[in-house]
Amino acid sequence: MTETYGLYIDGKWEVPAGATFFSTHNPATGEELGKFVASNRADVERAIVSAHRAFKAWRDTPAPKRGQILLRAAEIYRKNKEELGRTVTREMGKILPEGRGDVQEAIDMIEYASGEGRRLLGETVPSELRNKFCLTLRQPKGVVAAITPWNFPTAIPNWKISAALISGNTVVFKPASGTSLCGVKVVQAYEEAGLPGGVLNLVTGPGSVAGDVLVSDPRIKAVSFTGGTDTGRQVYTAAAQHLKYVHLEMGGKNPQIVMDDANLDLALDGLLFGAFGSSGQRCTATSRLLLHQKIYDEFLGRLLDRLKRFRVGNPLEEGVDMGPVASADQERKILSYIEIGQKEGARLLFGGQKLRGPSYDRGYFIAPTVFEARHGMRITKEEIFGPVLSVIKVSDFDEAVRIANDVDYGLSSSIYTRNVNWAFQAMDRLEAGITYINAPTIGAEVQLPFGGIKNTGNGGREAGTTAIDEFTEIKTVFVDFSDRLQKAQIDT
Ligand code: UN1
Repeated sequence: MTETYGLYIDGKWEVPAGATFFSTHNPATGEELGKFVASNRADVERAIVSAHRAFKAWRDTPAPKRGQILLRAAEIYRKNKEELGRTVTREMGKILPEGRGDVQEAIDMIEYASGEGRRLLGETVPSELRNKFCLTLRQPKGVVAAITPWNFPTAIPNWKISAALISGNTVVFKPASGTSLCGVKVVQAYEEAGLPGGVLNLVTGPGSVAGDVLVSDPRIKAVSFTGGTDTGRQVYTAAAQHLKYVHLEMGGKNPQIVMDDANLDLALDGLLFGAFGSSGQRCTATSRLLLHQKIYDEFLGRLLDRLKRFRVGNPLEEGVDMGPVASADQERKILSYIEIGQKEGARLLFGGQKLRGPSYDRGYFIAPTVFEARHGMRITKEEIFGPVLSVIKVSDFDEAVRIANDVDYGLSSSIYTRNVNWAFQAMDRLEAGITYINAPTIGAEVQLPFGGIKNTGNGGREAGTTAIDEFTEIKTVFVDFSDRLQKAQIDT
């Protein structure tokens, strides 16, 4: 029997009378991890009411004091890092070092946000008139919704929650159903840290119910969403009816360019990490390798060699390079893209199948998969979100950049070269929110803005100082101490 976890509303864990439940499972073994409440509309509304009620007192709590509570939450994550990392790995299947990394990114973000409690910078700006002072203040938006995906089940919630809280907002948090246990653990740390009741509320269950209420309730002032582009579009469209601020972080089709002068060993290490880390289930995952023709055969040969030694298995085990994909839905979608690739004439160079055998049969294991593809095929343009890499031959730098940019997404990008001109041109010309030089497409750090252009997002950036932009309103203040009416634009 696994444990049943309630909703967290108004500082209390509750299992509503007559609730229906769902479970989460380990995608490597099928083991059940917990039972969770499938929230209905009334549950989500109670969470909104609770957050709304808690707002005034939290808003009036000095930001450095808010930061102290956040820091305690970070300490609790740190103390429990190993157990939390294992929970991440058990619930979504990334290998344990990456499970720990997920938790570390949560800790980093909370620490960063808590420091912002002593900054939350506004501006002072000169007035065009004498004896007049102009400044801006940052104020919280109010109650905000954090809707988060399963692929970074502790880091991404904390990108949103810690930034929202330090800015003085209260939060209704809706984690992806598949990683509800991680969602519970995310919240428990804040509870233990002494966050006042109602400031952070948790609703679990399918996105269709909670999402619907969260985007339409007038008490929710902002919705921060990370997930698939189709869902993001629905959230944006529905929220537009209510003129709500919406922050969207969605898909990617991230290229790694390898030029003929690159350090090929380095480029190969980066590629394996970028393409197959978290089984390719990152918005930042490398899904296209743009390979210069002069080193094409050599690099591909080395890649296939390395993949022969690549270990896919239980992600809790030491020495495993890649775990399962996160769910049956993921498995289905990825296998269907592998089929699409074959049908459209891409040449399968490695993998391409569901793995079978005693250590795989209870989970969702797919072999790391490499296609030799032509730019324009669906597998080179659509987000697969799995361990499937398309290799495309390019004849020179300009062609590499042109192909890199010719997709609907623009999150991350990478180039391996020792040519300083190419490196700087790539920084300027690659159409993406993030560009790495001689490093893989994954590995963003929390003190820098994270986000993308085109269909990846709608202009906002998480993390870094931009995390505060996401969750604050700017108040402009004019103080006139001249003791007479002064008219801007007129008393010139
Ligand atoms: C995501 O894939 O949704 O840069 C987030 C990275 C991580 C965050 C990824 N730090 O890959």
